[in-house]
Amino acid sequence: MSNRIRKRVETLRLTIRQHDHLYYVQNTPEISDPAYDRLFAELKDLETEHPELVSENSPTQRVAGSPSRTFESVTHSSPMLSVDNTYSDDELRAFDDRVAKQLGDSDYDYVVELKIDGLAICLRYAAGDLSLAVTRGDGQTGDDVTANVRTIRSVPLTLLPGKKMPQELEIRGEIYMPKSTFDELNRLRQEAEESLLANPRTAAAGSLKLLDPGVTASRNLAFFAYATGPLSAALGQTHWDTLARLRALGVPVNPHVQRAATIEEAIALCDAWNVRRRELDYQIDGMVIKVNQLSLRDQLGSTGRAPRWCIAYKFPAEQAETIVESIDVQVGKSGILTPVANLTPVQLAGTTVKRASLHNFDELQRLDVRCHDRVVIEKAGEIIPKVIRVKHAERPAQTTAFAIPQVCPSCGQATQRDKDGVYIRCVNPQCPAQLKERLRYFVGRDQMDIENLGAALIDQLVDTALVCDFSDLYTLDKAQLLSLERMAEKSVANILDAIERSKTRPLSRFIAALGIRHIGGQSAQILANHFGGLNILMAASSAEFEAVDQIGPTMGESLAAYFCDPQSRGVVERLLAAGLNPAEPAPSRQDRSLAGKTFVVTGTLEKYTREGIKEAIQASGGKVAGSVSRKTDYLVVGKNPGSKHAKALELGVEVLSEKDFEEKCNMPAEL
Ligand code: IVH
Repeated sequence: MSNRIRKRVETLRLTIRQHDHLYYVQNTPEISDPAYDRLFAELKDLETEHPELVSENSPTQRVAGSPSRTFESVTHSSPMLSVDNTYSDDELRAFDDRVAKQLGDSDYDYVVELKIDGLAICLRYAAGDLSLAVTRGDGQTGDDVTANVRTIRSVPLTLLPGKKMPQELEIRGEIYMPKSTFDELNRLRQEAEESLLANPRTAAAGSLKLLDPGVTASRNLAFFAYATGPLSAALGQTHWDTLARLRALGVPVNPHVQRAATIEEAIALCDAWNVRRRELDYQIDGMVIKVNQLSLRDQLGSTGRAPRWCIAYKFPAEQAETIVESIDVQVGKSGILTPVANLTPVQLAGTTVKRASLHNFDELQRLDVRCHDRVVIEKAGEIIPKVIRVKHAERPAQTTAFAIPQVCPSCGQATQRDKDGVYIRCVNPQCPAQLKERLRYFVGRDQMDIENLGAALIDQLVDTALVCDFSDLYTLDKAQLLSLERMAEKSVANILDAIERSKTRPLSRFIAALGIRHIGGQSAQILANHFGGLNILMAASSAEFEAVDQIGPTMGESLAAYFCDPQSRGVVERLLAAGLNPAEPAPSRQDRSLAGKTFVVTGTLEKYTREGIKEAIQASGGKVAGSVSRKTDYLVVGKNPGSKHAKALELGVEVLSEKDFEEKCNMPAEL
């Protein structure tokens, strides 16, 4: 292969990185999207023709990781501390008094930053390349989420080249979901009548912990750095200079960072941002005020829990008052009854609020919310508002307490309270409201993904008894659908087509779609990877379920109960008979020779693709991680290994050539 091609690949990577930086970090794109796409396509083509040129940090490799089964835990180089919080100006002044007293005559100033409401992350760069990304976890130990973080476009895979590239760089910052992305995600979920995500922070956390980096990539997460970590040498003498150096290295730093000479200036900035925060496309829950001079920070030290040189000012939660017009009782897919207050519409934190969840009947009784009450509602970083309290003094005469429903509002059958729980449940398996909710979940985007089968149509299908369980969807015919309201030839054809296409969904989505209690998308993926096929899964006992990593006793019992129940078993059997064939490329259950062993792979291999070797390792029960740590058992090296090889040698991790690897795999006794 000619040098010309190698050069072109390098030029393309550099150009694409620079445009990524302009677009995702600086927000000032210089070329059109089609022009960018052409560069990207050219690089992709060259890498396909010359696989030996593929490198881990090529812009084409952001979503290259395969779904992982678990995240490895990594101990932080030094604990990721939390920050002391306050809601009061006077406490900010008291903080400043303490700082001034401890620093004596030294001059100091503050840097005031937005407190991004996301989740803390620690990134490591080795010789300019992203090598590790770890969540905060409990502050001491976090999860290795490198494969997922690599999909975040504002996180540089490679730092911008410059004169003083640090050999080792640890960066701490916040991963967040833009409000616009969050709203769109919830709009889609609402359309599919799925439960709404509470706020952008939990949505970001959930997206980062998805087992499939491909799905994380679709969640459009973003990143701002706010510090360097103690593992690497300081980039400057002040925090202000450190942030400037990070920017120069291509790392996104929030543009609204400001300096304040006094605490009063800092307080003024906090007040200003409390008003301006709605202009931002990300959620902030306060401001962080930090002493700027790094040497003075050392002098101030920390309390073990939080540093003494920094304080967070939290914005007060936004509240409004309104009237409860009525209280509805909703029936969820597992029969849980939830009281919901319908409110006189009121403006709160930029949106009109008409409904508020009352969570459960214990909460409703604690608050004693009644129809016609005046109530205070609050949005505290949550998108769904809560009723905080009732203004009892203003309660109109002759109201009555809301009674706990003795019967289900949908099917009329007697309700039951969960043992040791707060939930009131409809336990009638034939309850039409539950069936509708279960069907909505079954057809949802993350489950069987049956487009065009909206809420209104599901209502009609259940009300006309055309559908009594999931399997009935697969026997619907054109004439039956045409007999329903608002159905035309074209829409019927689309629906039948979408139902047909859903037959090939992988096992993980099929398991999730069944809506088994306590089994969400993530556990469904774990089960699919472990069991590989539906027959094995259906035959497993609760003990066998619990033996699976991350499947606890509650889940195990729920799964065993579901597959023992003749009714639910019957539905699954009818689904199979209707032509569904859910399978998952899965490890063989016999070969567990690599169980408990963690591998990392680096460099270009001769016989295997990256995916191929991962599958081979997983098929024998081993785990594949994205980066080398003390927990790594083996590093498999191909040609042109990068920093992982050096790291493995440093940590004393056993290094295997491709040939060694094959021998190990065939000689389980030695492991
Ligand atoms: S500084 C030891 N700066 O807020 C000091 N934190 O409540 C490290 N956060 O866990 C934190 N924006 O995840 C800092 N500009 C900012 C921040 C920020 C968001 C988060 C961070 C931290 C939490 C503390």
